[in-house]
Amino acid sequence: MNIQNNVSLQPFNTFGIQASCKTFIKIEEEQDLQKLFEAGHFDTQFFVLGGGSNVLFTKDYEGLIILMANKGISHFIEGNNIYVTAKAGVVWNDLVWHCIDHNFAGLENLALIPGTVGASPVQNIGAYGTELMNIFHSCQAFDTHTGTFTAFKNEDCQFTYRDSIFKSTYKGRFIITSVTYKLGMKNKINSSYGAINAELAKRNITDPTIKDIAEVVSHIRVEKLPDPSQIGNAGSFFKNPIIDVEVFNNLKQEFPDIVYYPMDVNTVKLAAGWLIESCGWKGKVDGQVAAWKNQALVITNLGNAKGSEIYDTSSKIVNDVFEKFHVTLEREVNIL
Ligand code: FAD
Ligand code: EPU
Repeated sequence: MNIQNNVSLQPFNTFGIQASCKTFIKIEEEQDLQKLFEAGHFDTQFFVLGGGSNVLFTKDYEGLIILMANKGISHFIEGNNIYVTAKAGVVWNDLVWHCIDHNFAGLENLALIPGTVGASPVQNIGAYGTELMNIFHSCQAFDTHTGTFTAFKNEDCQFTYRDSIFKSTYKGRFIITSVTYKLGMKNKINSSYGAINAELAKRNITDPTIKDIAEVVSHIRVEKLPDPSQIGNAGSFFKNPIIDVEVFNNLKQEFPDIVYYPMDVNTVKLAAGWLIESCGWKGKVDGQVAAWKNQALVITNLGNAKGSEIYDTSSKIVNDVFEKFHVTLEREVNIL
């Protein structure tokens, strides 16, 4: 095990923030987690990092950063189901395309989401009509309290929109080492998200394959979202707020154009991007920080922003949205 001191985290976060950590270790073999445990490293401050595409470093990290970099994908077939297991350090989009190449259906709507397999259950990643919880079977995780490996089944994970037990009760306790996805042999196409159908029609595709869906989703994403290798960002900075239907009805009277998605009889999800744009933030520049010109929900680093400046801009957005709509935006990005 090679533990390094005073390592720059700039290459390890998609905001491109310059911050350093006191100690750093790259884990390529999950057994090394046991060695870290035995050496007492989990008794002090630590943080697990995958691709760094959902974190904001607002200061130097005074503890141990554990970068999960174990690789490998395997599968077995049972009836009409394929169980694909990928190690935590596998790049998410590589897994998506591995499955498409093998004609395993289920991940195609989640194409091109940055980050790693190990992080995929943490916030129950979702996009274009699919959430991870729909295809998650189980995961293996290392318990930093006991030094043992544990399995979590889907029903153990308390998945909801952008949330799981790994973000709540067990925040900072378990290190996910591999994830098993339950996929289908038959192509079950999900093109329910409006933008997918529109793009399929443009391409004259009437009977799409999973590859078509992944290509169309990737195309839509590239049009709308900034590429982190060019412009630092972490995708949606906030969650779409879920509010009571009665509060919503009042808002709808005042703002008839409000963009929303009914959830159940009691709750409605609002498009945070619309709320933020309505406050004049779309494309707005605040020093070295800006809300993205094509998607106001994405906050970008114009080049030399500090993490604390990005956080301050996000607070201004929270305040403006609250003042206008009396709705509180919750940050999706993990703030450190
Ligand atoms: P990190 O940013 O490294 O970590 C995120 C959190 O997970 C941290 O709390 C970290 O401690 C924890 N974590 C990471 N690995 C492990 C592990 N092995 N075990 C335990 N905890 C772990 N997200 C969506 O859901 N849908 C989208 O459509 C989407 N689009 C995006 C577009 C862009 C351009 C960007 C930059 C981000 C987008 N995101 C999206 C957010 C991000 O890609 C996801 O949250 C992704 O799952 C983060 O993966 P990561 O490996 O980079 O995690
Ligand atoms: N909108 C605006 N102005 C904006 C942005 C959006 O008015 O600047 C309105 C539009 O009406 C648009 C609607 O909001 O049609 C929805 O926008 P979009 O389809 O871009 O989706 P979103 O709700 O803003 C969510 C996820 C994304 C995910 C997309 C596609 C959250 C917080 N974000 O965004 O996930 O890719 O749907 O499914 O749920 C992420 O989590 O990092 C992320 C990018």
